[in-house]
Amino acid sequence: MADNERTNVVLGVSGGIACYKAVELVRLLVKEGYPVQVIMTRGAMEFVAPLTFQTLSGRPVATETFNLTQESEIGHINLADSAAVFVIAPATANVIGKITAGIADDLLTTVLMATQAPVLIAPAMNIHMYENPVLQENLRKLRRLGYHLIEPAEGYLACGYEGKGRLPDPEAILEQIRGLIKKKDLLGEKLLITAGPSREPLDPVRYISNRSSGKMGYALARAGSRRGAEVLLISGPTALEPPAGVKLMPVTTAAEMRHAVLDEFATCTAVIMAAAVADYHPVGFSQQKIKRDKKPFDLRLEPNPDILKELGEKKNGQLLIGFAAETENLTANAQKKLHAKNLDMIIANDVTKEGSSFDGDTNIVTIIDRGGAIRSLPLMSKDEVADLIFDYLLTLRH
Ligand code: PMT
Repeated sequence: MADNERTNVVLGVSGGIACYKAVELVRLLVKEGYPVQVIMTRGAMEFVAPLTFQTLSGRPVATETFNLTQESEIGHINLADSAAVFVIAPATANVIGKITAGIADDLLTTVLMATQAPVLIAPAMNIHMYENPVLQENLRKLRRLGYHLIEPAEGYLACGYEGKGRLPDPEAILEQIRGLIKKKDLLGEKLLITAGPSREPLDPVRYISNRSSGKMGYALARAGSRRGAEVLLISGPTALEPPAGVKLMPVTTAAEMRHAVLDEFATCTAVIMAAAVADYHPVGFSQQKIKRDKKPFDLRLEPNPDILKELGEKKNGQLLIGFAAETENLTANAQKKLHAKNLDMIIANDVTKEGSSFDGDTNIVTIIDRGGAIRSLPLMSKDEVADLIFDYLLTLRH
């Protein structure tokens, strides 16, 4: 199915008291003109009748995988393919557990398994269920896999407890849905994105490197590709799967990364350097493993070329976006890099802050552009940061 046919908001409703708020969500979505297809689990139907959703969405509610009429009229793969965005609200601990484990034993989880659309999950449950380490581990896994999660709200819960676990207001969920239904607004862009660490070898078994996991760069590649750009991902060693539709060029050292980037630079429209390129490499390379000795070992390092600075000197219409990994004076240091490297935008992250460091699934960034605008953003997933970077890239472009 072509991307422009993926127009539905597919709303999966699982069985919790918050189902009544999903009814209001459907009303708001329809009011904004979104075609909505509701899928209900058996549990959800204990709380709200399918007729309520059918009346508001104007479409029959899908409920059964093995119902012949439903399967011949809508079909679970058609449902999956029709989604511009797939939302599960409310998402119970049970449905979250099934998704995390790859179980597809009812219509909702089967359709979800087959969708290529961005997925937004809105957990809602009792506070102790929400705090359960198993549930929390599942949510971390989903975040890592690129699912979008909306935090439950705090307040009085139907079970009588006070705390975190309420389904957020339908308006808040609607706002997230709007953000996820992105047009192919990067069509025509050819993006060169770097990710991960570089490794600078010392001998056949040792190297100098850093803690970059590549997650930030891979999130950018995923978001860019989803929004229609052609994406080349030049990546240092990571444990990550390259996102679908993205061309991966693996490299190891800063010198290899420089070579690959310079080779591709002339033909791309924008470069985003999220890679944590080593600033130094060891002088010389020992062909044999360096032997242990009782004397102190002096390690001499020499500077690596600054790839981004070189691009800043060569740029010819390309937008150039750098990152700044800082441990102090975040904004001032990032501004210096923006100017010294002739960048259009820089994404500064304080890597000492919880939620903003290497390897995590979240980041807290300050985005500074060449016009001097400074935007400090709250903690969000690296996928969300990536999307915002592209929103700002488009404002610079226009
Ligand atoms: O990979 P993750 O675990 O998800 O972590 C993400 C991240 C923390 C690595 C990422 O958000 C980040 O900050 N990346 C840039 C890290 C870095 O090298 O920052 P820097 O301030 O040292 O470098 C500034 C810019 O110059 C960066 O865009 C860097 O790619 C580039 N650079 C640096 C050195 C060098 N020799 N050549 C370069 O091009």
